[in-house]
Amino acid sequence: MPSDLSEKVILITGCSSGIGFASADLLARSGHRVYATARRPESVDMLAQWAKAFDGRAHAARLDVTDSDSIEEVVAQIERDAGRIDCLVNNAGYGQAGAVEEVAVDAWRRQFETNVFGLHAVTQRVLPKMRSRRSGRIINLSSVVAHFSVPMMGPYCASKHAVDAMSLALRVELAPFSVDVVLIEPGPIDTEFRLHVDENLRGEAEPSTDSPYAPLHKAMDRYWNRSFGKGAAKPIDVARAIQKAVESKRPKPRYRITPTAKFVPHLVSHLPDRFLDWMVRKQLKLK
Ligand SMILES: NC(=O)c1ccc[n+]([C@@H]2O[C@H](COP(=O)([O-])OP(=O)(O)OC[C@H]3O[C@@H](n4cnc5c(N)ncnc54)[C@H](OP(=O)(O)O)[C@@H]3O)[C@@H](O)[C@H]2O)c1
Repeated sequence: MPSDLSEKVILITGCSSGIGFASADLLARSGHRVYATARRPESVDMLAQWAKAFDGRAHAARLDVTDSDSIEEVVAQIERDAGRIDCLVNNAGYGQAGAVEEVAVDAWRRQFETNVFGLHAVTQRVLPKMRSRRSGRIINLSSVVAHFSVPMMGPYCASKHAVDAMSLALRVELAPFSVDVVLIEPGPIDTEFRLHVDENLRGEAEPSTDSPYAPLHKAMDRYWNRSFGKGAAKPIDVARAIQKAVESKRPKPRYRITPTAKFVPHLVSHLPDRFLDWMVRKQLKLK
């Protein structure tokens, strides 16, 4: 059991790459006890190699947020080994692209199974002990698109709206138990995310050339290439915000990373919907 209470015991989901890995690495380097998890065996092997550098403070485990047995196994193991979980970083997630009409219902369901119900399942498993200890922190990876929906990304935007809504309710519910709920809301970050969006689009959701949505799809593709080009921040920028959420005595309810993530929520709350629609079409260079 960790003796130093400034050393936090942290469980992070989705550490095979990107924000999850950068956060695991930064938090372990900062002296915390980190349980970095991933769903694929080869990713767990990679994390086990990485963990060797941290003298028993970093650990690797297999956790797929859509597999309740794997959640149970990992959480029970941490509670046995470390005696507690101070912070859960719900990072695992991916983006399902495609036109709302054309994405198959199963693909919509898979999106919510991971980004929303998976996050909920891990949270539900760690909360009873946090509540009874009257201490703990749930840190949820949301996104700027929790405030604004972009075309051809409906399933992903809907899932992040749901993460925000769930987190806001949870924050008030947990306040009497001194358990904090924090939202991390990045704009575009240079990770594997974009690659995974393209992978998930291929197959069932990619608009065929005769799709009525093909021009919009092309316009969105050009737009993503611009925003994930030089406009994107680095995973370490998000990891630093997560570190603040872990270490602050009184964490902020939201941390917004990138200028886009900071100004878009203000635009959305001040401008009329039809004006925002016009701005999106203009950004996408649509007639
Ligand atoms: N990059 C951005 O622009 C951006 C912006 C705002 C918010 N976010 C959010 O930040 C979080 C991290 O994304 P990222 O940018 O770091 O992308 P990433 O590099 O693709 O990392 C996503 C991670 O989630 C994991 N994952 C997916 N499904 C999972 C499941 N069922 N169980 C466990 N792990 C699973 C992936 O594992 P595999 O390697 O096995 O697929 C990967 O480790 C996501 O929630 C994303 O929505 C990203």
